[in-house]
Amino acid sequence: MRSSIANAAVAVLALAGRASAAGADEWRKQSIYQVMIDRFALTDGSTSKECDVSRFCGGTWKGLQNKLDYIQDMGFTAIQISPIVKNTEDHTAVGDAYHGYWVTDNYALNSRFGTEQDFTELVAEVHKRGMLLMVDVVVNNMAQGFDNVIPPKVDFSKFNPFNDEKYFHPYCNVTQWETPEDYQNCWLYPYGVALADLATEKKEVADELNKWVKELVANYSIDGLRIDAAKHVNDEFLAPFVKASGVFAWGEVLSGVQNDMCRYQTLGLLPGMPNYLEYFAMVRAFNGDSLEELSEMRSQAASGCSDSTLLGSFAENHDMPRFAARNDDPALAKNAMTYILLGDGIPTVYQGQEQHFDGGDTPFNREALWTSKYDTSAPLYVLTSKLNKVRSSAIRLSNSTFVTERAETLWVDVNHLCLKKGDNNATVVFCITNESSQGRSYSTGIGGFAPGEELVEVVRCRHTTADGTGNVTMYVEQGEPRVYVTKAVLEGTGVCEETSEDKLDSGAGRAMVPRSFGTVVLGAVMAMVWVAVAGL
Ligand SMILES: *[C@@H]1O[C@H](CO)[C@@H](O)[C@H](O)[C@H]1NC(C)=O
Ligand SMILES: *[C@@H]1O[C@H](CO)[C@@H](O)[C@H](O)[C@H]1NC(C)=O
Ligand SMILES: *[C@@H]1O[C@H](CO)[C@@H](O)[C@H](O)[C@H]1NC(C)=O
Ligand SMILES: *[C@@H]1O[C@H](CO)[C@@H](O)[C@H](O)[C@H]1NC(C)=O
Ligand SMILES: *[C@@H]1O[C@H](CO)[C@@H](O)[C@H](O)[C@H]1NC(C)=O
Ligand SMILES: *[C@@H]1O[C@H](CO)[C@@H](O)[C@H](O)[C@H]1NC(C)=O
Repeated sequence: MRSSIANAAVAVLALAGRASAAGADEWRKQSIYQVMIDRFALTDGSTSKECDVSRFCGGTWKGLQNKLDYIQDMGFTAIQISPIVKNTEDHTAVGDAYHGYWVTDNYALNSRFGTEQDFTELVAEVHKRGMLLMVDVVVNNMAQGFDNVIPPKVDFSKFNPFNDEKYFHPYCNVTQWETPEDYQNCWLYPYGVALADLATEKKEVADELNKWVKELVANYSIDGLRIDAAKHVNDEFLAPFVKASGVFAWGEVLSGVQNDMCRYQTLGLLPGMPNYLEYFAMVRAFNGDSLEELSEMRSQAASGCSDSTLLGSFAENHDMPRFAARNDDPALAKNAMTYILLGDGIPTVYQGQEQHFDGGDTPFNREALWTSKYDTSAPLYVLTSKLNKVRSSAIRLSNSTFVTERAETLWVDVNHLCLKKGDNNATVVFCITNESSQGRSYSTGIGGFAPGEELVEVVRCRHTTADGTGNVTMYVEQGEPRVYVTKAVLEGTGVCEETSEDKLDSGAGRAMVPRSFGTVVLGAVMAMVWVAVAGL
């Protein structure tokens, strides 16, 4: 690449536009939007093309470049994209390689998504906007369609660079998901496509992948990596691979068990991981379980991992059913969004989450985003935009302590989790609830501010003032989250430029009846007196 003067110019531009060397400290401050290229945007930006979710639907790098405003206006500062290298063209029993994970050639870009020039122009534009780019990479296997006759017949000569059987583990099917020798050395899901398992413990294989990733990052000015199926390669492979890349990386470790996930950080194998620990607890909390359990998993991530501020906070990704596939209540989705955007860790929002997509298991969770017409007035889009801007501002005002220090738990019960983040210059207090849009209307005191401080509740754009104890009265209706910030946090953000007086809208003026909760715990910085509106 970079053989032409045009490419060289693009490269210089890309470097000039870079935020800085993208290590952990830089990534901690980001808020990431996850894009699956084939499903994000068509080159011409049109929105009527139908998409068969098992086939290529036509999204491109140019399509993404043309729609960066949609992402940046939502307040995201970084983009994570699906793999960029060449995939198999085989039509398999489990669909086509539209997602990019079925690699055949590490040294060719995927022409389905555009030309090399298209890709370098995309990266340049991302950097020009001061944003970072994370690219998904596959190291566990190469891929080839097969006829479902076991053992799969694979023509290894078709792979580049691993064009010989000797670079791979002999075929066996992963069956023991608790046994590392099995899930690391056998082949994943042998159906329709053979995921020929690379012998990453062999020096020649590891050396080649390390050389490759170093070139990939340098050739295309990539700022960070997601390592697909990191749990399925041998432990020893990971740290040298990340080091060779020279950038921050997180690796996919699909586990809801504390040590299974955290060991990757504590043993120094990976800088970060998507936070499946809290993901599973969050899904449960909004599907019949309790927010106390989410709070417990939050503590487990904080205490068990070396640095929970480097874990990716997510409520959706391309592998899991959409949040709304389980429960499409709009208020619950707002609470989940608030938790991932303002809690500890690096927010990661998967395309379509902001449009409240509701697809189920793969591939139905990979809807074409254009079917939403990129609606920037969608409620979750609007909320995300506000909260991302609040977060970025708080990071700036707090000199980044907002993302290096962990939130303080103000209050937790089965239906509520209230956290406080930031220092006196940039305080953010937020409460999530799992009561859903059928939830009660009530008000309660919540603390943590300076006495008499002027505050804004940003979900509804309401102004209020802390009392002499630093408490504010929080009004909750229809199960929506609440986010109180000091006025300074909103300066220059354009968020809530118009505010009205904070109060209950429904049932206002009706008699308030104290409601007692057996499990109420009074914290040092906050106390809550629950008051329910009579008759609700
Ligand atoms: C990086 O660019 C060099 C020079 O054009 C090329 O030889 C090499 O194959 C490229 N590597 C990757 C991983 O794209
Ligand atoms: C592979 O193992 C899984 C269980 O982990 C099983 O469901 C599947 O049928 C097996 N496939 C083959 C081809 O043996
Ligand atoms: C919220 O939590 C309560 C108590 O654990 C539970 O009964 C309820 O089903 C949860 N709500 C939702 C929408 O899951
Ligand atoms: C901001 O943080 C940096 C790095 O932690 C530190 O060196 C600097 O003194 C801080 N600045 C202020 C004003 O606190
Ligand atoms: C708030 O910001 C000002 C100016 O940057 C600084 O002097 C002060 O120490 C900060 N206060 C706190 C509590 O961080
Ligand atoms: C917060 O408000 C509650 C109820 O109004 C009150 O009981 C409590 O003392 C206040 N908390 C603090 C820290 O002053």
